[in-house]
Amino acid sequence: VLMTPCRALTTLTMKCTTAVSADELTVDQPYAVLKAPKVWGALRGLETFSQLVYEDEYGAKSINSTTISDFPRFAHRGILLDTSRHFLPIKVILANLVPMAMNKFNVFHWHIVDDQSFPYMSRTFPHISQQGAYHPYTHVYTPADVKMVIEFGRLRGIRVVPEFDTPGHTQSWGKGQKDLLTPCYSGDKPSGSFGPVNPILNTTYDFMSKFFKEISGVFPDAYVHLGGDEVDFNCWKSNPDIQKFMEQQGFGQDFSKLESFYIQKLLDIVATTQKGYMIWQEVFDNGVKLKADMIIHVWKGNQEQYQSEMANVTSSGFQTLLSTPWYLNRISYGQDWQGHYKADPQDFKGSSALFNFNWPRASAVGERLWSAVDVTDINDAFSRLSVHRCRMVE
Ligand SMILES: *[C@@H]1O[C@H](CO)[C@@H](O)[C@H](O)[C@H]1NC(C)=O
Ligand SMILES: *[C@@H]1O[C@H](CO)[C@@H](O)[C@H](O)[C@H]1NC(C)=O
Ligand SMILES: *[C@@H]1O[C@H](CO)[C@@H](O)[C@H](O)[C@H]1NC(C)=O
Repeated sequence: VLMTPCRALTTLTMKCTTAVSADELTVDQPYAVLKAPKVWGALRGLETFSQLVYEDEYGAKSINSTTISDFPRFAHRGILLDTSRHFLPIKVILANLVPMAMNKFNVFHWHIVDDQSFPYMSRTFPHISQQGAYHPYTHVYTPADVKMVIEFGRLRGIRVVPEFDTPGHTQSWGKGQKDLLTPCYSGDKPSGSFGPVNPILNTTYDFMSKFFKEISGVFPDAYVHLGGDEVDFNCWKSNPDIQKFMEQQGFGQDFSKLESFYIQKLLDIVATTQKGYMIWQEVFDNGVKLKADMIIHVWKGNQEQYQSEMANVTSSGFQTLLSTPWYLNRISYGQDWQGHYKADPQDFKGSSALFNFNWPRASAVGERLWSAVDVTDINDAFSRLSVHRCRMVE
């Protein structure tokens, strides 16, 4: 794997070695020498090498002598794509993984299902996508599709972390999986609508055990994202069986305790699959008892709020991921994150429009996450990113 891309280069002969401790690239004709302790470092080094190639004033490709010793500032440099609100064809997902690699991103956070649709075709529960996808055949990801995305990412040094968000954001799950969601009540009768996952039924946990066992086999990454954001308590409140359960458990009217009850059981289930887990910040905010190896994903608030949240999360000893400042689509929908969430236009075209939303905008984030803390000159970055944009277009 290490040697193949090297042989493909014709401008210069490249020599690769793994017997070193830091990534280092030396270009000095007739050789460029790339040293990396791991294959992933070699992949990034090849990207760096391609960025050194420039066109001189006569249009000839040229490269200057140089030595670069390099490493990323952050180990997790992710891009989230949401394939539930708008189904993205596989080729669009793959088309986004290419510039991710060019910008040294290494995690594809696949927000694969949500309220709007369930395109993931489960082997164990195939009826969920049959009922819950926008279309049961054309708007689903088959096991072969998922495998293809994972392998395409792996060859580019990109991990695929799937998110299966519960107990909220699950309307699409309920269409094919009977009794999974909580029936909401209007007065003393079921209203016909459904709320979050029903946390008081044993069948819920039987389902989650089987479901996450499958997920842990399908997605090889060490982590799975369990969501946990924006749980609406109103439906739980309206349901008399839930009220009775709350009373039995001594939860009073504190529905975050019921959420904790659910999340706890879910974490125990996922722990048996040997996976690590990430969750959105609400789970931490609601005081759910968390395991020490949990990763808390911060996405809310203005700058002051998310910085305070990051401080709280890390001082409680947790590792954290940050997304708040980088909602790439937010710019078009106005500054308010809530407004953005609600105003998500239904006629949004997923394919090339998404691509142009993300790139080259995400390149700026890519540089922020990779480069040293003191690399902050905007003008300097602008000239680099302009050239990089052309490189990506090419
Ligand atoms: C390469 O070196 C030449 C000569 O020193 C210099 O003028 C040029 O700016 C360099 N180009 C790049 C892309 O580093
Ligand atoms: C649910 O499981 C618990 C624990 O195993 C058990 O005590 C309880 O009786 C079960 N409830 C139902 C309705 O089966
Ligand atoms: C962080 O913790 C402090 C002290 O408990 C609290 O006042 C503050 O609101 C917390 N920050 C956030 C964003 O929740």
